Amino acid sequence: MAKKTILVTGGAGYIGSHTVVALEAAGYRAVILDNFCNSHPGVLPRLEAITGTSITLERGDVRDAAALDAVFAKYKVDAVIHFAALKAVGESVKKPLDYFENNIYGTTQLLKAMDRAGVKHFVFSSSATVYGDPESVPIDENSKLWTMSPYGQTKLYTEELLRDCMTADASWRVAILRYFNPAGAHESGSIGEDPSGIPNNLFPYITQVAVGRRDRLGVFGGDYPTPDGTCVRDYIHVVDLAEGHVKALDYLFREDKSVTVNLGTGVGYSVLDCINTFVEQTGMAVAYEIVARRAGDVPACYAKVDAARDLLGWEAKRNLADMCRDAWRWQEANPNGFAG
Ligand code: NAD
Ligand code: WQD
Repeated sequence: MAKKTILVTGGAGYIGSHTVVALEAAGYRAVILDNFCNSHPGVLPRLEAITGTSITLERGDVRDAAALDAVFAKYKVDAVIHFAALKAVGESVKKPLDYFENNIYGTTQLLKAMDRAGVKHFVFSSSATVYGDPESVPIDENSKLWTMSPYGQTKLYTEELLRDCMTADASWRVAILRYFNPAGAHESGSIGEDPSGIPNNLFPYITQVAVGRRDRLGVFGGDYPTPDGTCVRDYIHVVDLAEGHVKALDYLFREDKSVTVNLGTGVGYSVLDCINTFVEQTGMAVAYEIVARRAGDVPACYAKVDAARDLLGWEAKRNLADMCRDAWRWQEANPNGFAG
């Protein structure tokens, strides 16, 4: 049987690149569409080395209708996984228009191009940010949806847009995947997270301190109502997350139904747990100090994961120690990321 072709927008980025590996391993053919606004073309030869196949990449922007039509005309696309978005919460507060334009307008352009091409299978990168400051943990998919940043609004509005599209046209098959906190890297150490500038997220900050690019980690707040006073999150290995996308696609094709699920491990770890596990697993020192709370951080956020297990047949296999070792293997081998 011919391989199904999956258009992966944002496929050169952190989660997208790992998903391309998982797709190829599962017998799908990935076509990447990326404008490299937050990634590096150097990822491509590495993807080819890992997968042992040539990877198709189209440089283009999801806001560009003509470029999208050209891609759908060139490839017989069976489904789209849509990662392309801006994702920095703090930046979104300063530049809300950029976030709405890239994330919401970009998605509407993509959905319209899919509609024109008759492609109706869609996997969307949503986020635990749609649960705001949750009333209770673990968080299930029916929890109240609200957000605390323009970035979060773009994810919530896009979810609502997708629900409206499904109401208007019963032929859409949509998987909304709400990721918790992705961390780690491919076990080869040749692809991983490569943030530009000062990292916003905990894991790349820890690895950049360990490799000597930053002096010390500021731990945002030590007086939260959590076991050790630092915030608790559900860190999920990026390879598990990537495999979750394959399971979601399989579900759309197999069950012919839409689905909304959390992708997390169901386990919460504090910031200090992450630092201590990283130090234990790598033997590297990580200087840190407790500093003021960061605006908008919630004390604890972790997933109820039953729906992904029961519906998709997916659960995370890798633990925090694996995330630490794999994140470090990538950072140690690539102290300056893809740029070398
Ligand atoms: P990333 O920045 O590494 O990847 C996004 C990719 O999309 C980049 O390669 C970027 O160049 C590309 N891109 C952005 N705008 C584009 C556009 N208009 N046209 C074409 N390409 C464009 O981010 P990531 O961490 O891999 O996140 C992927 C998706 O998952 C995003 O939608 C993000 O909001 C979502 N998400 C991320 C996290 C996280 O913590 N990393 C958590 C929850 C949800
Ligand atoms: C994790 C923990 C920080 C950096 C964000 C987005 C969310 C989703 C995932 C996209 C928190 C602490 C961090 C540092 C620290 N992204 N921390 N010092 O905030 O849970 O989630 O990424 O959808 O929408 O909000 O992740 O990695 O920024 O922080 O102490 O230098 O680490 O306070 O407790 P967060 P994070």
